[in-house]
Amino acid sequence: MAENILITGGAGFIGSNFTRRILKNRPEARVTVLDKLTYAGNLSNLGDLMKKPNFDFEKGGIENAPLVERLFTERDFDTVVNFAAESHVDRSILGPKVFLETNIMGTFTLLEAARGAWLSGSGSIEGKRFIHVSTDEVYGTLGETGYFTEDTPYRPNSPYSASKAASDHLVRAYYHTYGLPVITTNCSNNYGPYQFPEKLIPLMIINALKGEKLPVYGDGANIRDWIYVSDHSAAILAVMNKGQLGEVYNIGGRNEQKNVDIVKLICEIVDKMTSEDPELAREYPFSGRRSELITFVADRAGHDRRYAIDSTKIERELGWQATTDFTHGMEKTVRWYINNRPWWEAVISGEYMKYYEEQYGKR
Ligand code: NAD
Ligand code: DAU
Repeated sequence: MAENILITGGAGFIGSNFTRRILKNRPEARVTVLDKLTYAGNLSNLGDLMKKPNFDFEKGGIENAPLVERLFTERDFDTVVNFAAESHVDRSILGPKVFLETNIMGTFTLLEAARGAWLSGSGSIEGKRFIHVSTDEVYGTLGETGYFTEDTPYRPNSPYSASKAASDHLVRAYYHTYGLPVITTNCSNNYGPYQFPEKLIPLMIINALKGEKLPVYGDGANIRDWIYVSDHSAAILAVMNKGQLGEVYNIGGRNEQKNVDIVKLICEIVDKMTSEDPELAREYPFSGRRSELITFVADRAGHDRRYAIDSTKIERELGWQATTDFTHGMEKTVRWYINNRPWWEAVISGEYMKYYEEQYGKR
């Protein structure tokens, strides 16, 4: 029997990247993407995959118990990979409720459906796996030194990270209480193609191209550990193939960068690409250096200072490591946004403009 895989949130940034990888890596598997298509979800992220005979798309929320239960009954999933989430910290500060509904109640609904299908009646956990995709933000903030390991205590500081932490705790509890075959991954900041332009890197690329203000929060010295999205997908695949049930794996790029340095790098790449290509220079006219657009604005509330992942466990036990060089990954990413203007123009209309005004209007 072909393996049946449920990918939730597969129309988002990381989920669509992973869906592409899994369909290539396991061509015989039947893949279902369940996605509510919120502002962050976009069917065009899946492109041609939608036409594959072994691919199904279901529009709906992971918190919708009748829908989720029906899918489990009809499709007899072997593997669940849960990407679906409200994922943006700034939005969680403006309006936390939906973060609790999706990230906590949604994960709970998926766990209950898996428990019902795999652990009751004639169900079995043989060959079953529930992989929960989480974040390093659950660990809170670091000082100037040290790293997050799998044993670092949870200290979430935003409504987003608190809701992800709650979902991680539920996943853990379902392993210890019911024996549900779960694995949790906690990854650092991703970047790459198809990232929604409310996150730092795509927002800065698009604003730099358009010659608009580049709003850096606080003093710009906050640090994140950046990983190219396909390296994250490769890590999840390694976890799917070889991860131990009940375990947690931290995933990071071993690549700490200060926010303001990233924005300067984007400016340099955009300046160089436009100066070398007259057609591009006409499309995105700008005189001077784009770094002049950097504007320090009011800080994010509760802004975590530094994240850094110790990914020794997944490297040693599963043989995975991040391979994309940061400058090269950033050049590829800028080039992707240049080549895919219709994609980002479509997603930054309507609702996004309202968010942008609320988030940046008074800063
Ligand atoms: P994203 O915001 O780009 O995509 C989220 C997807 O989930 C969208 O397609 C959206 O439509 C869908 N979704 C939202 N609510 C839903 C619901 N109730 N039911 C079904 N689908 C719903 O997010 P992303 O950056 O791709 O992140 C994916 C996952 O990875 C999240 O769980 C996030 O917490 C985690 N993560 C993200 C990063 C990062 O840097 N982006 C790092 C570590 C972990
Ligand atoms: O660490 C993993 C997390 O990384 C994921 O769990 C989240 O889903 C993902 O959104 C990301 O969270 P961050 O808050 O770190 O990412 P964001 O791109 O929003 O911001 C990165 C840094 O840049 C952060 O320190 C805030 C800063 N920033 C962000 C924006 C949008 C700015 O200075 N200006 C901005 O306009």
